[in-house]
Amino acid sequence: MKPLLQVAPKRGVPGIAKKAISYRLLRVNVNGAWHEFAIGRDIAPNMTLAFLLREKLGLVGLKLGCDQGACGACTVLMDGKAAVLSCMVLAVQAHERHILTIEGLPEDDPVVESFAEQSAPGYGTALQCGICTPGFVMTVKGFLNENPDPTLAEIKEALSGNICRCGCYAGIAQATLRAAEKMRIKRTRESA
Ligand code: FES
Ligand code: FES
Repeated sequence: MKPLLQVAPKRGVPGIAKKAISYRLLRVNVNGAWHEFAIGRDIAPNMTLAFLLREKLGLVGLKLGCDQGACGACTVLMDGKAAVLSCMVLAVQAHERHILTIEGLPEDDPVVESFAEQSAPGYGTALQCGICTPGFVMTVKGFLNENPDPTLAEIKEALSGNICRCGCYAGIAQATLRAAEKMRIKRTRESA
């Protein structure tokens, strides 16, 4: 991790003698925009990335299902590729990193489209209450980045860290297969 920057506050507090306070600065890119937070003033040093995203930036797509790394609902992508559990990452560990949340995905993202197409009510749906969906979508994106042509067994293994309390696992696996197919078609078109 790159070292955090030292910054001095821009203004003193009126009526109080100036003290040499300086803050370390967290710089993080979220969904394409850079944000800066003074550690100790804007955020606590032990704040999680999940808390920063939800409470400081209002990105409430990710959910805090367990807050202890057991459900996958808080998954985001770091540096474009790897899916990480944002409840298990300190905000300061995201210094100078690029974070992608569900809000940063376009509507025509192949994974988003695949989940939407697999959402008709009834058996085989990929989403019922939708609480787990952002976490699954981001996990699937990270997985397909690494394995663009997975088997059903590989998909089940890759998604085994995410919990869906509505039990939509079969539909989610089908949506993942569909997303992989869409991405294959897109790659073929782009390379033609
Ligand atoms: S909220 Fe992060 S894994 Fe459950
Ligand atoms: S759709 Fe309800 S928890 Fe997964």
